[in-house]
Amino acid sequence: MKRDLKELISQMTLEEKAGMCSGLDFWHLKGVERLGIPSVMVSDGPHGLRKQDEEADHLGINDSIKAVCFPPAVLSACSFDRRLIHEFGDAIGKEAQANDLSVVLGPAVNIKRSPLCGRNFEYYSEDPYLAGETAAAFINGVQKHHVGTSIKHFAANNQEFNRMSSSSDADERTLREIYFPAFETAVKKSQPYTFMCSYNRINGTFASENPWLLTEVLRKEWGFRGYVMSDWGAVNDRVAGLKAGLELEMPSSNGIYDKEIVAAVEDGSLDEAVLDQAVERILNIIFEYTDHREEQEFTLEADHALAKKIAAESMVLLKNDSILPLKETEKIAFIGEYAQKPRFQGGGSSHINSFRVSNALDAVSGNPNVTYAKGFPANDDIYDAALAKEALETAKTADKVVIFAGLPDSFESEGYDRTHMRLPECQNRLINEILAIHSEVIVVLHNGSPVEMPWLSGVKGLLEAYLGGQAVGEAVADILFGKSCPCGKLAESMPYKLSDTPSYLSFGDGENVKYQEGIFVGYRYYDAKEMPVAFPFGYGLSYTTFAYKNLQIDKSEIRENDTVRVSVDVTNTGGTEGKEIIQLYVSDHTKAVRRPIRELKGYEKISLKPGETKTVHFTLDHRSFAWYNTSLKDWYAASGDYEILIGASSRDMRLSGRVHLTAQKLLPIKVHMNTTFGELLADERTSGYVDHFKTQLEEMFKLSSDNIKEDGDVAISDAMNMAMITCMPLRNVVSYGMCGKRELLAMIEKMNSRLSKSVE
Ligand code: BGC
Repeated sequence: MKRDLKELISQMTLEEKAGMCSGLDFWHLKGVERLGIPSVMVSDGPHGLRKQDEEADHLGINDSIKAVCFPPAVLSACSFDRRLIHEFGDAIGKEAQANDLSVVLGPAVNIKRSPLCGRNFEYYSEDPYLAGETAAAFINGVQKHHVGTSIKHFAANNQEFNRMSSSSDADERTLREIYFPAFETAVKKSQPYTFMCSYNRINGTFASENPWLLTEVLRKEWGFRGYVMSDWGAVNDRVAGLKAGLELEMPSSNGIYDKEIVAAVEDGSLDEAVLDQAVERILNIIFEYTDHREEQEFTLEADHALAKKIAAESMVLLKNDSILPLKETEKIAFIGEYAQKPRFQGGGSSHINSFRVSNALDAVSGNPNVTYAKGFPANDDIYDAALAKEALETAKTADKVVIFAGLPDSFESEGYDRTHMRLPECQNRLINEILAIHSEVIVVLHNGSPVEMPWLSGVKGLLEAYLGGQAVGEAVADILFGKSCPCGKLAESMPYKLSDTPSYLSFGDGENVKYQEGIFVGYRYYDAKEMPVAFPFGYGLSYTTFAYKNLQIDKSEIRENDTVRVSVDVTNTGGTEGKEIIQLYVSDHTKAVRRPIRELKGYEKISLKPGETKTVHFTLDHRSFAWYNTSLKDWYAASGDYEILIGASSRDMRLSGRVHLTAQKLLPIKVHMNTTFGELLADERTSGYVDHFKTQLEEMFKLSSDNIKEDGDVAISDAMNMAMITCMPLRNVVSYGMCGKRELLAMIEKMNSRLSKSVE
């Protein structure tokens, strides 16, 4: 049904229109009964429904309906599987229809700038490409059911400390290349019905009243068509927010800000058309949902099974010195309370009231060869000598020991950041004690963010279960005993220690947080610094092996608008059916600007039977090669060579090839007295004007000494000569008597006029 929303809005009073722009209560939007506008409900997620009926809160304190807790983003992103994530979204969309929820508040796509951020478990990745692709797949799945998503938190909300007031101070290139693309991809590939702006400021301006962010970039550049809502309580100045592009205030300010909107329209400081447009955008999404209500059942059991599948296909096997999979006939000791009480989700607004939680111990209850000792408490850091003794005794009698370790709830949550990367001391101590008496040890980790692993070299197996959702126990048991072949890979780097991390010197600052590491976040930093990490981005083992061959790149010469098709053959060379994630990275060899060594620009996940080969295809476009050029105000790839690398992780490149790109876009330059010869000689539009100076300068430097040292060596080599000329400002030709000042100024004017014509 096509509704005439403008006509509907013309019947609304000013107060009704202002009222539409804030929540009715914690979770509902207002309706206007006399005009048939329904009041609809929104709810957290996104890895399940946190629908609250009675006591509402946004911190996960009060109860919500019994629902399914799917794996949080920290784990599901490790699936690197667009189809699986789409299926996940599809299930959430159906669940939302079954529970009459018009919008699910997520996905959360903020970049993991530091492992310390308390909400990292809710976020997908340190890599914007992976975060964007995952978000788009999820959103398309949910919105297939005409249920909206609210991609959050837009933007640069990367720490919890002072999250409602601090300013994320980042340069534009960093925002465009690292902190924005997940949102941008989501708009372009899945058009989320709503956006949630973040609490924080960006370079001083609140996200909730930032016209550049909410209108220029989001709507005009990317083409967003839905509405923007505030994070809960993120409004600072309501009228400024509305003008900037914040349509909906959530939850509400008890009518106070609605009155400010009315007053601003009445005194002429706010154009009523701005309000009308905001209302139209909100109504559009409300009716998109209410006009497409679906009969859906809340299929808890089926969704639990899906939660298990997602968990099993996302967990990452990090180490396996021929210890896994376990055999049913082996005597196995499970140690650590997480075997019985797994930590499977994080605290705060995404906290789901799971209708059932599976643990690993129950999942293997049919196996009489598995014994269990608590070892340490799941939710505390208390070393208990009696528990430790019992654990050591249990371990001694087993062939293999599996230690279920992890971070207690209190160690990481929405609302605060971690101050260190350590596991509870009681766990590290017991792991070391077990390693002292047993050589066959596997650790399973339950954590929302990387931890230091001081015992890493001693263990033979390591499974990163992250926060696995409510079916975690079954998924872990299936992987340990080889019923599932592990196939997740890390969506973030695992550094050895906190001081290795890129934002170590500025993360968690108060008022103004300087994003001084710029674009060098995650593997972009560790690779540029040639720094060893415990496990690199994109890494993960399988119970089988894969061989990569026959890289095909369909072009060797490209121009800006060309696409490049890449393919590679992958074979399962082991004895088990398994899935492999094939990653494509691009490395810029043009030296036009400082860039990461390589960046992820494609990935595919395929399933292969033993001996089977499949061809994997990728398509690259201009953006795959480009960086954000702030003087051009656009994406730009310089002329030169680019390497295309196919890897099994960010540090395991198997095949590579090259393309040569010829750029047509011309960069704007404004010449002045201090423009260097380097810049002028590098650009064909200006080099002709200064070539003769270059010749004279070369002569001058050579002649300034006799250029021969006593030992016969040249005093100034050609390379030194060129380096001095490259860094020399234009004005020096005057002081060296090569040109009069007036003459030089006239030449600069000529160059600038030619340059301005070239970029028109
Ligand atoms: C969180 C959001 C959440 C909202 C509603 C806020 O505190 O930052 O992610 O959707 O509360 O619960």
